[in-house]
Amino acid sequence: MKETPVTWQVCIACATEWQELSTATRCAACGGLLEVRHLPPRLRGPELRAELDRRAGGSGVWRFRELVLPAVQEPVSYPEGNTPLIVSASVSRWAGVANLTLKHEGLNPTGSFKDRGMTVGMTQARRLGATVAVCASTGNTSASLAAYGALAGIPVCVLVPAGKIAVGKLAQTVGFGARVLAVRGDFDACLRLVEESSEQLGWYLLNSINPFRIEGQKTIVLELLQQLRWEVPDWIALPGGNLGNTAAFGKALREALEVGLIDRLPHLAVVQAEGAAPFARSFAEGFRHHYEVQAETVATAIRIGSPASWARAVAAIRETGGVVTAVSDSEILEAKSVIDRAGVGCEPASAASLAGLRKLIAEGRVAADARVSAVLTGHMLKDPESLLGDRNAVQEIEPNLNAIRAAILP
Ligand code: F0G
Repeated sequence: MKETPVTWQVCIACATEWQELSTATRCAACGGLLEVRHLPPRLRGPELRAELDRRAGGSGVWRFRELVLPAVQEPVSYPEGNTPLIVSASVSRWAGVANLTLKHEGLNPTGSFKDRGMTVGMTQARRLGATVAVCASTGNTSASLAAYGALAGIPVCVLVPAGKIAVGKLAQTVGFGARVLAVRGDFDACLRLVEESSEQLGWYLLNSINPFRIEGQKTIVLELLQQLRWEVPDWIALPGGNLGNTAAFGKALREALEVGLIDRLPHLAVVQAEGAAPFARSFAEGFRHHYEVQAETVATAIRIGSPASWARAVAAIRETGGVVTAVSDSEILEAKSVIDRAGVGCEPASAASLAGLRKLIAEGRVAADARVSAVLTGHMLKDPESLLGDRNAVQEIEPNLNAIRAAILP
């Protein structure tokens, strides 16, 4: 009898199964998105919780290895994860919710949550003997891919929308030694092009279409639950762009429930920027239509009009009784300023989760006494231009005390 493998892949559209080490990042039969499946871990419920708690420290991704990629002994890892849960009275007050924790994923090695997916994706690239790794990106994925490629010794090529990625992200990507192609088009054009080129040139695709990225990103939620001592919050808020993270959160929660780590599901609240909100529009109509838009927003990380993980994300929202909303650029910038002034700091796209939460509370869709966690996805330094817009905040003076007096005193 053939032995059941520990890990395999399945197409979420046509249910065809593929081996763990298959190199295709979409179903070779129908082009659908793939999902990674594992045999259930040996331990369950309280025993699994105790084992995971015993492993605190190390990588915040590989600590959960039986739920991520059990076969791997030596991952390509910094390590990553172990990001803090921050409580801020001023942020809670602004949002209108007393019990709010901020999971700061900007404190990963390259400054965004992408590192959690990339440690798994790059480990898989090395297992498969990839010669080049490639992605399309609004900036954070490219910075993370460039770093993990350098760590693994695998050359990296990234496609980014010309003139539309934040300077911190571009600088990291160049610094880590990736080939950067600035495409005269938007992120959606980059993604189409990168899929085509990976297929034609045999390069390993490391966008979140790649299901191994999703396995790593699940650990944002697993680590969050662990930090909350496995007491499930009522809501988890996160920004939505290409919807890989939404998909990962949904899968993490589904599996955490299956293996008895938790006994109920929180609701997901996904927040898009108004100028890039095809998923929010579709949610408002019961997901009856699939939309694509020409995206525009100050939050360049989520300036995406045709999200790739759409079908996976619909499942995540339905299964968790979640909601999808959209906020304006000015609401995003106001939320960012509140987070920055609280000493927490994040990049614009990350602040969408807080702006969306505030809106949902004001609308009564999230109760003011709910237990809520909001995920901050990227570091404040990613987008320094968004901070220095107000040039009056920096005042140049002559090098003497009188100049200080004149500048500061009334
Ligand atoms: N927040 C930040 C800081 C991001 O960089 C991204 C996506 C998102 C939120 C949205 O996450 O796509 O999983 O819904 N950035 C990608 C990139 C697209 O290329 O770096 P998503």
